[in-house]
Formats: sequence, C-alpha cells, structure tokens
Amino acid sequence: MSTATLLLKGKEYELPVMEGSEGETAIDITSLRAKTGAVTFDPGYGNTGSCASAITFIDGEKGILRYRGYPIEELAKSATFVEVCYLLIHGNMPSIPELDAFNEKLTRHSLIHEDMKKFFEGFPPSAHPMAILSAMIASLSAYYPENDNELNIIRLLSKAKTIAAFSYKKSIGQPFIYPRNDLSYTQNFMHMMFAVPAEGYKVTAAIDRALNLLLILHADHEQNCSTSTVRMVGSSGANLFASISAGICALWGPLHGGANQQVIEMLQQIRESGQSAKTFVERAKQKDSGFKLMGFGHRVYKNFDPRATILKRAADDVLSALGKRDPLLQTATELEQIALSDPYFIERKLYPNVDFYSGILYRAMGIPTNMFTVMFALGRLPGWIAQWKEMVDDDKTRINRPRQVYVGSKVRELSEVDEALALTIA
Ligand code: SDX
Repeated sequence: MSTATLLLKGKEYELPVMEGSEGETAIDITSLRAKTGAVTFDPGYGNTGSCASAITFIDGEKGILRYRGYPIEELAKSATFVEVCYLLIHGNMPSIPELDAFNEKLTRHSLIHEDMKKFFEGFPPSAHPMAILSAMIASLSAYYPENDNELNIIRLLSKAKTIAAFSYKKSIGQPFIYPRNDLSYTQNFMHMMFAVPAEGYKVTAAIDRALNLLLILHADHEQNCSTSTVRMVGSSGANLFASISAGICALWGPLHGGANQQVIEMLQQIRESGQSAKTFVERAKQKDSGFKLMGFGHRVYKNFDPRATILKRAADDVLSALGKRDPLLQTATELEQIALSDPYFIERKLYPNVDFYSGILYRAMGIPTNMFTVMFALGRLPGWIAQWKEMVDDDKTRINRPRQVYVGSKVRELSEVDEALALTIA
C-alpha cells in the first residue's frame, strides 16, 4: 500500500493512498482528524471523493463516460433505456430471460394508487412539474411503507414515468391517459403524454429511438450534485422514495438539471432580442452581467462532454427524420462556434455540456420546456437508484456528516448584551 506524507506543524504523518481501477489516485483521510486533529477544507467538494463506486467512470480530461465499463457511445447506439436501467442497477447487461422478466415487472407496476390522483387536484395548473414529481415520489412511501427495496425499485422506475406524464396532462387540463401493457417503457411514456381520449397516438420509431437515447445519456454521472444528495439523504437510513425525492429537488437547480430548460429560454431570448449571438457571448464574459451561457461548462469535463457530442449529432438526425427544422438549433451551433474560439471560454475549458443540445430534441418530440428537467430526472432515475443501492448494500456505509471550519464569534457572555436590550428580551 503506497502512502502520502503530510507535514503539519513540524510533524510528519503517513496517509494511505488508494488507487481506483482506472488508475485514479486518492489520499485516504479517514484517519486524518484522529491522527492530526485537523480536517480538510474543500467547499464544493471539487477535490473530495465521497465514496468508492463501481457504477460509472468519467475521465473529464479525455471526455470518457462509461456505465459499468461500457462506453456511453456504444450504449447510446445499441442499447435501450430499460437495458441500461438493468445494467446500472444490477451491474451487468440482462440476458433475454432477465430482460423479459424486468420488462414484465415494469409493465405490471406502471399504475399509481387511484387515491394518488387526488394529489393532482391540489396543485395549481401552473405548478412546475418538478414540484409535483418530487412531492409525488416522496408520497409513494405512504403507499409502500415496507422496506422491500427490490420491489420498491421496480415501483419507482415504473411509476415515475406515469407521474411525470400525469403532471403534464394536469398542466394542460387534459384527462390522465393510463399506461398500456402492450407498450414498451418509452412508448408507454409518450402514449401517456400525448394520447387523447377517442384518438389514438402512435409513437414513431424515430421518436422512440430519440427518447431511448436521451434517457440513456442522462442515466448516471457518478457523484454529481443530485446523486450526492441521494447518497447523503439515504445515508441516514431514509427510504428509497424519500432519498430520490431529495435528488429530484437538487437536480431542479438551474446550475444542474434545471439548465436544460434555461438553455432553450436563453436561445429564445437571443433570437427574440434581435441581437447577435456574439453580444450574448460577450455578456457571459462579464461577471457583473449576471448572465451565463447556460449549457456551457462542467466541473469534471475539461475537454468535451461526450453526451453533448452525441446529442448535437442526434439533433440533426431527429429533426430531419421528423421533417422538422428548429431555428434554435442554428442559434445553438452559432453560439457554440463563437464561444469555442473565444479565449475566455478556451482558458476556462468551457464546452457545451449535456444540457446544451438536449432541449432541441425534447422540443422536436413535442415535450414542453417546463418538462425538460423532469425528462432529465426520468433519465437519471436508474443512476440515482443504483448509487443508493450501492450505498445501502455496503455494510461499511456511515451516515454522511461533514465537518467545518468555524469562523464565527469566539465565546461571549449574554450579560454583555446591552442592558436595555436584555430588558426587552426579559
Ligand atoms: C449538469 O456534475 C455533473 O456531472 C452534472 C451533470 C450530470 O450529468 O449530473 O453533468 C449535469 O448539471 C451539467 C451542468 C449544467 N449547468 C449549466 O449549464 C449552467 C452553466 N454552467 C455553470 O454554471 C458552471 O459551468 C457549472 C455549474 C456547470 C460548473 O461550475 P463550477 O465547476 O463551479 O465552475 P465555476 O462556476 O467555478 O466556473 C469557473 C469559471 C468562472 O470564471 P472565473 O471566476 O474563473 O473568472 O468559468 C466561468 C465562471 O464564471 N464559467 C462560466 C460558465 N461556467 C463557468 N462563464 C460563463 N458561462 C458559463 N456557463
């Protein structure tokens, strides 16, 4: 076992060094405070490994993303989302019998309890679908209180798409469309989203393929903000539904999964402003402008986000397969070209991330902008579940409880408080 030597206040300490299966190096500081009395300081956790995980590998410098060892490019080309769900959660691609059994269970658990429909009556039509999704997912624990994690994982994977589709129908005042047992996972979701009573809805192969691609590309991404939240909440022993609901809330933020909605709104703002894309790129470089190029930049990817590369190509393919044009795609590619040749973006290694092109595809499929982050959540669900399961199954898991560096007042006496004020308190 190799070690790292720390010299602190004149004393040397040996700390064990871990090496990951892809050769990453980590200094194991689990004994640091006991040995030295010191803690580390890493706001935003940019240099901190919170766990050892066998699920997803990312190499940010080389633009590598693999789920259980399989490159994202291969899965995006050849797998279905349900196969990727099985892969992330169980560790291997399913055999035909395993896939059939998995699909059968997902089909059988698509319905939500009829009483849960009443929850939708309490939400205003303007309710953001992420507010509904997080509330309804947490509420599943009221209907399934038993800790049967295997069954609850199936229930969650299957009912989340129904809840998402119902939240869309609620927002447009249309009746809920129930899932059908003869449709695949992705076909069922689009059916529940866009079918209307007395009028069928057929999912085209191009749409079904695009939806599988989008969900696969979002399925996991190691210890991002929302996944770390799922692990944090789950580490206290909170149930699966509560842990995932917390992850949905974390994903909602505009710096994380909420960015895909912000990208489309930014592209629309640029087109409607009549100003050039260059003007907006310049604005994004001014700190005090409060304007960021949404869909650009990433904490880990410092060369390119492989998902953005795949989505950019798919945007062209899907639009032409659907015989559609989207002027926002032209604005997006123009913005990308300007930014990628600008020293500000080059120096800071800012490239398009997964959110930059995903909205173009969602729009082409008829999905409204305020549902984009819900689509991200549906994709990320198997990843959150796999990471939660990996943590729960690890008997060395402890409750997550970071330390801090205190920079507040030193000890002081209440009697020092001004007499007059003390009298009002009394
Ligand atoms: C996702 O972690 C994951 O894996 C997340 C995700 C996943 O699959 O789970 O990949 C999904 O969340 C993708 C990111 C979506 N968010 C956005 O597109 C929002 C816009 N991007 C930024 O807010 C930012 O790039 C982050 C949040 C993505 C990353 O933030 P960091 O790592 O904390 O980087 P930073 O904010 O410290 O930026 C470093 C520099 C700063 O400039 P300086 O202070 O060095 O002068 O780059 C600048 C930033 O001002 N910068 C940007 C910018 N992003 C960073 N400037 C303009 N536009 C941007 N988009």
